[in-house]
Order: sequence, then C-alpha cells, then structure tokens
Amino acid sequence: MYTIEITGGHPLCGSTLVQGAKNSVLPILAATVLCEGTSVIQGCPHLEDVTCALEILEYAGCRCRREGNTVTVDASVLRESRIPFALMHKMRSSITFLGAMTARCGRAEMSFPGGCELGPRPIDLHIKALKEIGIRVSERGGCVRAELGDFSGGRVHLDFPSVGATENLMMAAVLSKGETVLTNAAKEPEICDLQNFLNKMGARVQGAGTDEIRIEGVPRLKGTEHRVIPDRIVAATYLCAGAMTGGRLELRGAEPEHVGAVLSVLRDAGAKVEAKGDRIFLAAPERIRPVKLLRTMPYPGFPTDAQALVTAMLTLGDGTSMVEETIFENRFKHCGELCRMGADITTRGRIAVIRGVPRLTGARVEAMELRGGAALVIAGLAAEGVTEVRGTSHIDRGYDTFIEDMQALGAQITKH
Ligand code: UD1
Repeated sequence: MYTIEITGGHPLCGSTLVQGAKNSVLPILAATVLCEGTSVIQGCPHLEDVTCALEILEYAGCRCRREGNTVTVDASVLRESRIPFALMHKMRSSITFLGAMTARCGRAEMSFPGGCELGPRPIDLHIKALKEIGIRVSERGGCVRAELGDFSGGRVHLDFPSVGATENLMMAAVLSKGETVLTNAAKEPEICDLQNFLNKMGARVQGAGTDEIRIEGVPRLKGTEHRVIPDRIVAATYLCAGAMTGGRLELRGAEPEHVGAVLSVLRDAGAKVEAKGDRIFLAAPERIRPVKLLRTMPYPGFPTDAQALVTAMLTLGDGTSMVEETIFENRFKHCGELCRMGADITTRGRIAVIRGVPRLTGARVEAMELRGGAALVIAGLAAEGVTEVRGTSHIDRGYDTFIEDMQALGAQITKH
C-alpha cells in the first residue's frame, strides 16, 4: 500500500470533472442479474468495490467486460446464487445482491456483511422488508439464506429510511407477482438512479425520490444501457478542498441539486458558490466562517458521507462549530488525526465541537475509513508543511483519480 505525501498551502485553482457515483454503480451492477440479457453501464469509476462487484457477478456466471469507464455485464446464464465469504467480506454493500439474486434465481445465500469501520452494520431492515413481499429469509452461522415463498409483493414500511434496504427491496420486488408499496423509503439520488435503470430494463417502479415507492412486478426484464449519476460525495470533497485551501474551482459533470445541503453549508462558511447546468463554481472565503450546528440526516439533509470533509474544513473556522452525526455510531475517527495536524476538536458521543484554528500543520496521519481518510488529505492540502497519509487503501475505495485531479488543480501531492 502506498502513502500520500502532500506539501500543503497551495490554493486549488482550475476546473475538474466529477467521477460517476460509487453508491449508484454498486446497486446497479447488482441489478444487472435481474435480466437474462446484457447491460451496459457507463461512467463506472475504477474502484476496488466495483472490481469486487464484478468478481461477484463473474462468480455467479455473468460475463463482464470493462473498457475505460464502461462495464458490460452479460447475465444470460446465472449458475450460482451462493456468494462465498471471501467475496462478500471485501465490501459491505455486497448485501445489495441479496434481493436481485433471490428474485432471479429463486434463492440466494451469502455471508452476513458484519460490522465495519463506522460501527455495527445490521441488515435487519433489509430482511424484514424482503420478508414482507414473500421472501423467506433465515440467518444462521453468519449466513443469510433467502428463498422465494409467496412472492406477491405487499406493503412495506421501513422504520428508518435505509438506503441499502430500499435498494434491496426495489431489486427484489420488480420481479414479484404483485404490487409493492414501500413507505418511509430512502430518498437519496442513488435510489432515483436505480429506479431509472430498473425502468429502462422494463420494470414498473415509481416514486423514487419521495418517501413512497410503488413497484408493480413484471415477469421479466431485459438488458439496457445506462450512465450513472455523478458522485455527489466526490463533488463535496473537491469543494471542501477548494474552500479550505483558499482556492477557486469549477466542477464539471456535477449535479448541483444532489449537493444542495453541502452547497448551503459552504455558503454558510463564507464561500461563494454558483451552480449552472452541470457546473459548480466555488470561490473560497478569506477565512472559513464557523457553522453553529450541522446535523447529518437522510437525504435531502446533510449527508453523513460528507461529514468528515466538512469537519476538516471547519477546523480552520474563525470560531467554534458543532457537528452532530446522527446516522452512524462511530464516524469521528478522523478527528483525532486532524488534531495531530493542529486542529482543536473535542468529540463526545455523536457530537464534535470544532474550535477553529488559524492554521493546520503537516503531520503523519492514518486514514481509518474512506471519507475520514479523504478528510485528512484535504486537510493536508491546506496545512503548512508536509503531511503523510497512510492507510490509503480506504481512500481508494471511493476515489478514482483523486491524486491526479488535485495535482491538476495545483496541489503538491504524490503517491509513494
Ligand atoms: C449507504 C451508502 C453509505 C452512506 C449510507 C447513509 C452505499 C453503498 N453506501 O449505506 O455510503 O453512508 O447509505 O447515507 O450506498 N441500519 C439498520 N438496519 C439495517 C440497515 C441500516 O439499523 O438493516 C442503520 C445503519 O446501521 C445506519 C443507518 O441505518 O446507522 C443508515 O444505513 P443505510 O442507509 O442502510 O446505509 P447503507 O445503505 O449501508
């Protein structure tokens, strides 16, 4: 594994393109097994999790091809619906295969995803939702087994609008024999992207983006072509980096509406932000303004995935900011590392109090999870002196051309 070395203090200036969304491409790849045909997915970033999803598809019998950012999945023959532990444990979101594999093959078996860097990652909501539409699900010995029962749809209410549970249910229900109405569904843009993909395959899904999704089952689906939406968290990362380095940036190929909550915080922090079509322009303030209270919430609220990035930015605030993490239990691991760079952050439970400092200084730090790792990189870009970030495999899980993009924007950043 390599180390990232940054000599900070260079404002990011220029224009860069936003990659396709990791969190869209993963469920869409899982959904390709729903038809006995070929799907072409464009805008696939080169990421470890995408490779892992392709390995799962190939193990199941699909033929996958990748050319640049286009992935072709031929799911004509599916000979295996049991996914081995070795593949499952590489990526938490492999559980999204459960609904699609069961609907296509009549049964599926996979190991339980277990906990991760962010705390426990239960799948009780996924299981409960699948049961409501007539799928028998049992858990034993760290394995989840699912089998079609009276697969006729039904009414499902999620106690919490879980993104993964919403996706899993949608992917199973599209092939059910009846109608499914899902209430308190997740409203994230990735859910809308999945709905669009499924409908292009011939499914009948409506309501994604609202808290009620209606799915009318169809007997079969067909292969299709689809371009995934831009990655809103990568966009947020680059914008926070621009703001905290005193830069001027243009993001191309972005979807401003998807980052509405982040743009609003950047404006509160004093940045000038404008959106036009698929472009976002940002001009950093002289000094970051503190933000009284920022609370992570399900979409359209402030995304938990952008929390670490905004926390990094607020370390340079001209006063005290407070961040409350309401989605995950353990999402402040980057704070200790930011303090090694001179930040002044106290965390207690789900709250972080960030007392702004005039400058950060370079240090050796360790990425412990994906977005927290990216937060250390952008802090390094703004810090005085040299920052060395280890644990970079976490960062590679979500960013395709992070280092190259930062270099093109004028950062002094290299891999060793
Ligand atoms: C997805 C995203 C992840 C993002 C998260 C929240 C992907 C691949 N990942 O993850 O980047 O941070 O949404 O926006 O799309 N929960 C339960 N039981 C369940 C499922 C979830 O208690 O069965 C809890 C989780 O522990 C967590 C919360 O619900 O506290 C949110 O989880 P969820 O929305 O399901 O996130 P993911 O789909 O795993």
